[in-house]
Amino acid sequence: MDTQLSKTQRSLGNGLLGAVLLFGIGGIVIYALEGEEVYQPDELYVEECGACHLAYAPGLLPVGSWQGIMQGLEEHFEDNAETDNETASYISNYLEENALRPGQPSKWSMLLRNIPTEAPLRITELPGFIQAHESEYELLEGIDLGVGFFSPCQDCHRQADQALFDKELISPGYGPTFQ
Ligand code: HEC
Ligand code: HEC
Repeated sequence: MDTQLSKTQRSLGNGLLGAVLLFGIGGIVIYALEGEEVYQPDELYVEECGACHLAYAPGLLPVGSWQGIMQGLEEHFEDNAETDNETASYISNYLEENALRPGQPSKWSMLLRNIPTEAPLRITELPGFIQAHESEYELLEGIDLGVGFFSPCQDCHRQADQALFDKELISPGYGPTFQ
């Protein structure tokens, strides 16, 4: 009886220890995720450039692309996205300061691969973007996607608004590895 009890106590003890360990590990995982650089977009930027679509994180395009976009806001992909000069220059500075840069560490450095001298205006036209989505293009081969198919990143990347594009955070059903 005594041994039985102590056995139960022991297994209960183990269980608790297990729970503590699990919790502990969970805590570390959560910490690790939180410890990752958290994207905090500029409020004015989101207000202005998130009105029609996702406010794309500045680090997704090189300086040249942002300059091209900001210089052509009155004819922005067949839309008018013009804003007053003060706001425009504030946003230009913000985008250029935080743009994707060769030689600077970035988890999106794959987007810099093979960029032509004149950088495209679209993230979705960067050779590195196309390469990163190769499996998607293969999957959709033969279907006429049309321009802009990949532009609403949040359709597939659940946490695109937080600029998290990790493979683990893709909505189920997208991409061969995630079905
Ligand atoms: C009036 C609506 C509107 C506003 C405001 C707007 N955009 Fe856009 N934007 C569009 C449209 C429409 C497209 C093309 C979407 C498509 O092809 O599906 C686009 C596309 C883009 C793309 C290319 C996305 C891709 O395919 O890679 C970028 C980058 C972009 N916008 C940046 C900006 C920035 C920066 C601002 C703020 C200065 C802004 N947009 C404000 C309507 C807008
Ligand atoms: C139709 C679904 C879809 C859309 C829309 C989409 N993506 Fe993706 N994206 C994927 C899939 C699936 C992968 C993983 C591809 C693979 O593993 O081959 C991926 C991979 C990536 C990666 C590489 C992630 C890594 O950790 O290697 C980045 C960065 C990325 N996407 C950014 C974007 C951005 C920015 C947009 C919007 C301009 C976008 N994606 C739109 C499906 C999509």
